[in-house]
Amino acid sequence: MFSTSKLGYILVIIIFMGSVAILYQIQLTRLHDKLIILEHHQEKFQSKEKQILKKPTLTDDDQLILYNRVPKTGSTSFVGVAYDLCKKNKFHVLHVNITANSHVVTLENQVKFATNVSNWESMKPALYHGHFAFLDFSKFGMPKPLFINLIRKPLERFVSYYYFVRYGDNFRPYLVRKKHGNTVTFDECVEKQLSDCDPNNMWLQIPFFCGHSANCWKPGNKWALNEAKKNLANNYFLVGITEELQDFIQVLELSLPKFFKGASDHYLSSNKSHLRRTVQKDLPTEETVDKIKASPVWQMENELYEFAVEQFHFTRKSLLRNKEQQVMYEKIRPKM
Ligand SMILES: *[C@@H]1O[C@H](CO)[C@@H](O)[C@H](O)[C@H]1NC(C)=O
Ligand SMILES: *[C@@H]1O[C@H](CO)[C@@H](O)[C@H](O)[C@H]1NC(C)=O
Ligand SMILES: *[C@@H]1O[C@H](CO)[C@@H](O)[C@H](O)[C@H]1NC(C)=O
Repeated sequence: MFSTSKLGYILVIIIFMGSVAILYQIQLTRLHDKLIILEHHQEKFQSKEKQILKKPTLTDDDQLILYNRVPKTGSTSFVGVAYDLCKKNKFHVLHVNITANSHVVTLENQVKFATNVSNWESMKPALYHGHFAFLDFSKFGMPKPLFINLIRKPLERFVSYYYFVRYGDNFRPYLVRKKHGNTVTFDECVEKQLSDCDPNNMWLQIPFFCGHSANCWKPGNKWALNEAKKNLANNYFLVGITEELQDFIQVLELSLPKFFKGASDHYLSSNKSHLRRTVQKDLPTEETVDKIKASPVWQMENELYEFAVEQFHFTRKSLLRNKEQQVMYEKIRPKM
């Protein structure tokens, strides 16, 4: 028989042990929760690590093309082909609209742009186009996209631009251009040495290929010309010639079929080859041409143009001559 005091004693022990057990249980639950959080963190970290490791291996499916188009080089026709093909060939085309058509991007926006374009997975593969100077993505720790561009005879581009801002074109005929109503011809302009046809204004293709350094934007700067050539040769996937747009499209189709399969046929059969003609364009007289060609800026711009022509012809010839060329691996050691 238990006495009531003994019973009380046992009850106290039971309550005490029960409490200990409950406290234990609570601690265990907390620990368990912490473990889950830790595991979660680890998973996140590992997946981040995987992403970092994944980046340098660009495949067909995450290729990026950047087309930093120079104004009045036939870029609208070419971009039109890309827009027509993008659905069928499964890539995106995006226009990069920079406030006030500035060709120079601020340092802040350079970082943002390079990071955004490189990481925007749902847009890949993609072709971005816009009127901005060359950007070195590796400066911001991003993989280099495939830069492409078109280059045009500097005087023709200049004259085309001169009349374009006065008379517009057949692409958007309703748009009133900034020099609308000005009827001074290019010849008159050169004769009177007006600022609109100052040869220094021809300094445009060099800075577009040169990039974002201060010297790139100084008309007549020798370093800029060299830098433009270097970028054209080393940092551009392909630079075509406006006068040979059809060949440019052909080379792109052969070298980047993922994007440009069917481009040549499309270009020829659609009316893209006739798109966007500047409305009124008097050819400059021989005297005007001679004056322009005497300027150092024309000579340097022309040097870049001829450098690009040589490079483009070389690339195209070698591609057409070696269509069946294959790159294979052999003598792989140690044997698997
Ligand atoms: C760029 O954006 C501005 C502001 O939204 C717009 O007015 C302009 O038409 C755009 N430019 C082009 C070429 O679409
Ligand atoms: C890139 O910018 C666009 C437009 O601002 C935004 O919608 C998109 O989420 C950005 N992508 C990344 C990966 O930052
Ligand atoms: C091209 O233009 C011609 C006449 O300007 C027209 O008859 C033809 O249908 C056009 N072709 C396409 C594919 O738009």
